[in-house]
Amino acid sequence: MQYQDYRTTHVGPESWAKDYDAKLFAPGSFDAEIWAREQRLLDDIVERHVPRRDSYLDFACGTGRVLAHVEPKFRAATGLDISETMLAVARGRVRSAELVAGDATRNTDVLAGRKFDFITAFRFFLNAQPSLRDDAMAFLASALEDGDSRLLFNVHGNRYSTRLLLAAKARITGEQFSSMSVAECFELAERHGLEVVEWHGIGSYDKSLLRVLPRPVWRWAERHAPLPKRFAVYLYFVCRRR
Ligand SMILES: C[S@@+](CC[C@H](N)C(=O)[O-])C[C@H]1O[C@@H](n2cnc3c(N)ncnc32)[C@H](O)[C@@H]1O
Repeated sequence: MQYQDYRTTHVGPESWAKDYDAKLFAPGSFDAEIWAREQRLLDDIVERHVPRRDSYLDFACGTGRVLAHVEPKFRAATGLDISETMLAVARGRVRSAELVAGDATRNTDVLAGRKFDFITAFRFFLNAQPSLRDDAMAFLASALEDGDSRLLFNVHGNRYSTRLLLAAKARITGEQFSSMSVAECFELAERHGLEVVEWHGIGSYDKSLLRVLPRPVWRWAERHAPLPKRFAVYLYFVCRRR
C-alpha cells in the first residue's frame, strides 16, 4: 500500500502500531521465519563489513526488533522513530540503547549531528512515499561517519518476485500496492552519494502463496528450489559513502 504520508501510519494506539509485533512476528508466523534468516544476515554483515563498532543507529526502529538484536555488537546504540507508540514498545525491549522520538527528514538536528559506524533501516522504504524515501536516504547518507561506515537498508517487497501475483490481484481490485525493483533501490542509494557494495535476497515464495501452499511445502521450496536473488521477495542493500 502506498500512503499519502507514511510518517503518520504508525502514530497513535489505533494505527499500524496496534499489536505490531503480535500481528507480524508471532512465533511460528511466516514473518518470524523470515526474521530468523534476517538475524543471520545481520550478524554476517556486521561481522564482515563493519570493522569499527562504536556507534549504531536503527532508523525507523519501531518496536526495536532490529535494534535489540544488533545493539549488543556496538559500544553505543540509538533508535530513532517518529512514533512514540512504537517507541513505547521498544523501551521494554532494548538493553541500553538510547531511543529518540523525532523526524530527521524534517529536522536534521534531531540527533545533534551525530555520525554512526553502522545504520540499519528495515521495513521503511517500501511503503514510504517517493519524496520521503529520498529525504530519508539523504539523511542516512549524511549520518554515516566515514568510508568505513555502512548503511544496511531493506525493501520488503521486490516488484519482480512472486509478489507479482499480488500486484495482478491489486490491479483487478483497485487496491493500493507498493513495490520496488532492485534497480530502483540502487538508484535511490546512488542519488545520495552511496555505493551498494553488496546486496542480498531472502524469500523466494511470497507469504500470499501460503493460502495455497501448505507450510511444509513452502519450507521445502524455500530450501530446495530457491529463485535467483534478483527475484527474492525481501531485498537487502549494504552501502557505503562513495
Ligand atoms: C513498518 S515499521 C518498521 C519498524 C522496524 N524498523 C522493523 O523493521 O520492525 C516502520 C516505522 O517507520 C517509522 N517512521 C515513519 N516515518 C518516519 C520518519 N520520518 N522518521 C522516523 N521513523 C519513521 C514508523 O513510525 C514505524 O515505526
